Amino acid sequence: MKKHGIVETNIGWMMALIVLAISFGGLVEIVPLFYQKETTEPVKGLKPYTALQLEGRDIYIREGCVGCHSQMIRPLRAEVERYGHYSVAGESVYDHPFLWGSKRTGPDLARVGQRYSDAWHRAHLMNPRDVVPESIMPAYPWLAENKLDGKQTPKKMKALQALGVPYTEEDIANATEDVKGYTEMDAIISYLQSLGTAVRENR
Ligand code: HEC
Repeated sequence: MKKHGIVETNIGWMMALIVLAISFGGLVEIVPLFYQKETTEPVKGLKPYTALQLEGRDIYIREGCVGCHSQMIRPLRAEVERYGHYSVAGESVYDHPFLWGSKRTGPDLARVGQRYSDAWHRAHLMNPRDVVPESIMPAYPWLAENKLDGKQTPKKMKALQALGVPYTEEDIANATEDVKGYTEMDAIISYLQSLGTAVRENR
């Protein structure tokens, strides 16, 4: 029997070789991404999140905003015309974990920063229907009541520093003071206002 015949008639060999072929194909596609500048270097002007923005990002994760909002503009005409420049990998290098998302019940938020005023966001998060009557987004009024104590903030920044986010020792030392007394609402708005601004300023 020819060698190929052996593989075709033996399901064990067939499975093992298929897995090998597919993993090789996958590795060839994925491994170079860890070394390409385009995917590992921050875009020009990208800054790490401030302590307050970082807390806001964690509240965004806690409240499940990513379940309805992506942060990933694809290079398709309809998206670029609606949201702005498509997302590039260098914008997400300080995001651990990234929040690209895959569900779009609401609009993409990758470039929502500076599009609305803080007051708009506040009203919208308190009750979306006050500013967008047909909105189906839930209200998040408790964000305005919960105050941050900032106890965990330096630890979070230290963990991110270990992952390569360029926080200075000073940033970390001041983190608690930087967020103390602000509400969760202030933090999440500060985070939202930062989204996508690095690339917009480059253009
Ligand atoms: C059940 C799905 C759902 C969830 C969960 C959700 N949203 Fe929304 N969001 C929407 C929809 C739908 C819209 C469009 C209508 C509107 O503006 O309210 C929207 C709009 C927005 C907008 C305005 C975007 C634009 O470009 O006009 C922002 C900002 C926003 N959401 C932030 C958030 C944040 C922050 C959270 C979490 C605290 C969140 N959303 C949770 C569905 C959702």
